[in-house]
Amino acid sequence: MTAETAQTPVPGAESSAESAPVPTTAAKITDHRRKYQEAVGDRDAAAAAKQHPRGKMTARERVAALLDPGSFVEFDKYVRHRSHGFGMEQSRPFGDSVVTGSGTIHGRQVVVYSQDFTTFGGSLGEVAGEKIVKAMEFALRIGAPILGILDSGGARIQEGVVALSKYASIFRLNTKCSGVIPQISIVMGPSAGGAVYSPALTDFVIMVDKTSHMFVTGPDVIKTVTGEEVGFEELGGALTHNKTSGVSHYLASDELDALDYARALIGFLPDNNLAESPIYDSDTALEITDADRRLNGVIPDSPNQPYDMKLVIEGILDGGDFLEVQPLFAPNMLIGFGRVEGRTVGIIANQPAQMAGTLNIDASEKAARFVRFCDAFSIPILTLVDVPGYLPGTDQEFQGVIRRGAKLLYAYAEATVPLVTIITRKAYGGAYIVMGSKQMGADFNIAWPTAEIAVMGGAGAVNILYRKELAAAAERGEDVEALRASLTAKYTADVTSPFLAAERGEIDNVLEPAGTRLAVIKALRGLRGKRDELPAKKHGNIPL
Ligand code: HXC
Repeated sequence: MTAETAQTPVPGAESSAESAPVPTTAAKITDHRRKYQEAVGDRDAAAAAKQHPRGKMTARERVAALLDPGSFVEFDKYVRHRSHGFGMEQSRPFGDSVVTGSGTIHGRQVVVYSQDFTTFGGSLGEVAGEKIVKAMEFALRIGAPILGILDSGGARIQEGVVALSKYASIFRLNTKCSGVIPQISIVMGPSAGGAVYSPALTDFVIMVDKTSHMFVTGPDVIKTVTGEEVGFEELGGALTHNKTSGVSHYLASDELDALDYARALIGFLPDNNLAESPIYDSDTALEITDADRRLNGVIPDSPNQPYDMKLVIEGILDGGDFLEVQPLFAPNMLIGFGRVEGRTVGIIANQPAQMAGTLNIDASEKAARFVRFCDAFSIPILTLVDVPGYLPGTDQEFQGVIRRGAKLLYAYAEATVPLVTIITRKAYGGAYIVMGSKQMGADFNIAWPTAEIAVMGGAGAVNILYRKELAAAAERGEDVEALRASLTAKYTADVTSPFLAAERGEIDNVLEPAGTRLAVIKALRGLRGKRDELPAKKHGNIPL
């Protein structure tokens, strides 16, 4: 019994229905209750019996756990398929294979669809497709985020081209919604074949360890075509897509963890591209605190010693709360959300604790897509820089580091949101330029006294600039390594000092680390009214 059915018995409902040729109101209400029970109660009970033993929730249980309690308003629960053949006429369950509707998360409106694997394997036929399209169009119309919970065998085999056509409609709508409303996909079961491309077109993909799988062609087809033997988990499991392919943005330990992460994400995002991100109360200290002073001790004395950039991020954000996105993929680049004075910021940071913070293809693509997301939704970007350069090697060059690395340049250059950049240590060469440098469009560029800014690091520069001197010293039998070390030290002191960049105005300020949090607060306050426009064009041509 739910809010939709009356709590008190209806007197005479049975007898009037039997005696009257035209059903009475009471009989109609009774019929509604029966249909409601069939559409919701019976279906949920049957679904739970199938899903729970597999460690999975039902489609409606997932929606209930995702949304604020009692906020769900279901759409189209009495929709039924119209397909023929394969015995489909005999099985026309209410609602078909997907639950759709709207509700709230943290009191804010969202739209949701949740595929029901227990009905035709969650497959997408004509009416399931229509339900999803209707939900997406509704989300677009009201300017609310759309969250899809996927658990599906893909296009409904019995329905052929009609099913494929509905996928096309969904892909087109995903693209139309892109940059207008946030789109989150929570994969909680199979997502196979072309169906994977709907999540791929959305902003964030969350997968559940061991129970979600995404692949374009499954293990059997791969074995037939290439002879390669691979299991579901290795091919398309949550770990594979979080760590290796970069398709997924969060590896959830279980379904509730996945839904919690989606709720946390929504907490940082605006409803749509014309809305502001939610503003939370904050008790931000407006003077330098002991916690701020701890930042002075983060950078090691040796320039080659790693440190954890997350300490810096946490030292700047309200409460040290950093919601990391894609933590397992390209860990040499950190991306995620936090708040400064209660307002959302996107963080992009080199991580010197991984691969010395070098830029490679994966890191560039990871950061580029995040810059574009933040820019589309008016989220200011804070960039933290400690990068020795691009990762050298044939592997990177052959895989297209030129074309794929250029995405990050394009993304920053096109961004019109407030951009604040802090250089904590190394900022060399092209990597300096791409990581939110002044001429790439950053509004405030701050360097710590530990910053080293130059075309390249001291060792590389000395090898090129002093090649003849080093060779001559070797011929004379002198200590070449001692000479190299002293030249490197001199170069580093003379050329990489942040004050040289500050002298040129490429850095707005050299600041001791303890002052960073306050400087970021003031910079972002000052940039709230930023207006920056690109010339009118249909769209640019980002190197894809
Ligand atoms: C109709 C389907 C179905 C589908 C599963 N079922 N997939 N029904 N269309 N695509 C049904 C099964 O017949 C079964 O029905 C029930 O769902 C559960 O399926 P099982 O196979 O018993 O479950 P499980 O062992 O868990 O395996 C799940 C699975 C497997 C891995 C997803 O069902 C599977 O491989 N399905 C086909 C996947 C696929 O190739 N889909 C098409 C991809 S191409 P009963 O009645 O027995 O319970 C595609 C094109 C999209 O999607 C194009 C977009 C451009």
